[in-house]
Amino acid sequence: MLSSTNHQKVVLVGDGAVGSSYAYAMVQQGLAEEFVIVDVIKDRTLGDALDLEDAQAFTAPKKIYSGEYSDCSDADVVVITAGAPQKPGESRLDLVNKNMKILSSIVKPIVDSGFDGIFVVAANPVDVLTYATWKFSGFPKEKVIGSGTSLDSSRLRVALGKKFNVDPRSVDAYIMGEHGDSEFAAYSTATIGTKPVKVLAKEKGVSEDDLAKLEDDVRNKAYEIINKKGATFYGIGTSLMRISKAILRDENAILPVGAYMDGQYGLNDIYIGTPAIINSNGIGEIIESPLSADELKKMQDSAATLKKVLNDGLA
Ligand code: NAI
Ligand code: LAC
Repeated sequence: MLSSTNHQKVVLVGDGAVGSSYAYAMVQQGLAEEFVIVDVIKDRTLGDALDLEDAQAFTAPKKIYSGEYSDCSDADVVVITAGAPQKPGESRLDLVNKNMKILSSIVKPIVDSGFDGIFVVAANPVDVLTYATWKFSGFPKEKVIGSGTSLDSSRLRVALGKKFNVDPRSVDAYIMGEHGDSEFAAYSTATIGTKPVKVLAKEKGVSEDDLAKLEDDVRNKAYEIINKKGATFYGIGTSLMRISKAILRDENAILPVGAYMDGQYGLNDIYIGTPAIINSNGIGEIIESPLSADELKKMQDSAATLKKVLNDGLA
């Protein structure tokens, strides 16, 4: 439950590139009056807390400190970014064994603290680890949210914005499925200024092949960034801030996140990327997109890929 006062508390577990980018985004937005940083590297959290607090004279007052799992007891949101990132040439799914071990050591102490807020999971493979967080925590499914295809959908909107020379915030388009190699662009539901993307593409001489290449570039953007700078973190850090803001402000915002399937798209017992309404209770409602037959097949194939890794990862 969100704090009755307007004092809101967020705990970050994992203060690496993604976690510290998220923390910086939260400070910049002035979100949460209390922000706790937990990591196995204690000095990193102590240094980050001191560094982040120096921004407050320009943003908003906030208690920022290095903490422990016990600090989750009265938190509204716990964000989990703890986990190894991909090395060049590695897929997200390749991380499942090492990061499942890390996750299994994190969720229990959080739950044992008495935490009863919302989990937001980003560590990869995020759809598998979000499912595992739900399983390990015993929390209601709507209180466990994965970053899902939020970052991917931002990449798609940026790419479509560039292609059609419009503000990416004016592009309503979703990447769905796995946050990974089996993700796909739900072009049949995408619009720019009320006009379907496929209609606009025809008007602007953008071919089906151009759209397919754009989708592929989005799907592979992480590899391009990792090959160049070693990791990605600003995009996901901002995506996690956006999801946190929708929870803390009880927005009922529709965002692409990793949500538990209970029959939607013919899928069950899997977390996967879909539009959903996000509010102070976590996932308010899944928006089941009216996908084309081809897109529905991609969604189901993506879920099958995840299920295989999930079964191996939880074995
Ligand atoms: P990083 O190596 O910079 O940071 C990971 C942090 O986790 C380190 O500070 C480490 O000390 C900490 N950690 C490890 N084990 C821990 C434990 N048991 N308890 C607490 N903290 C622990 O890695 P980076 O770049 O921040 O990536 C983190 C994760 O986020 C990776 O799995 C990466 O693949 C994922 N990621 C997910 C994205 C998404 O869209 N969902 C996008 C980008 C990265
Ligand atoms: C991404 C990877 C790292 O940036 O999950 O999409």
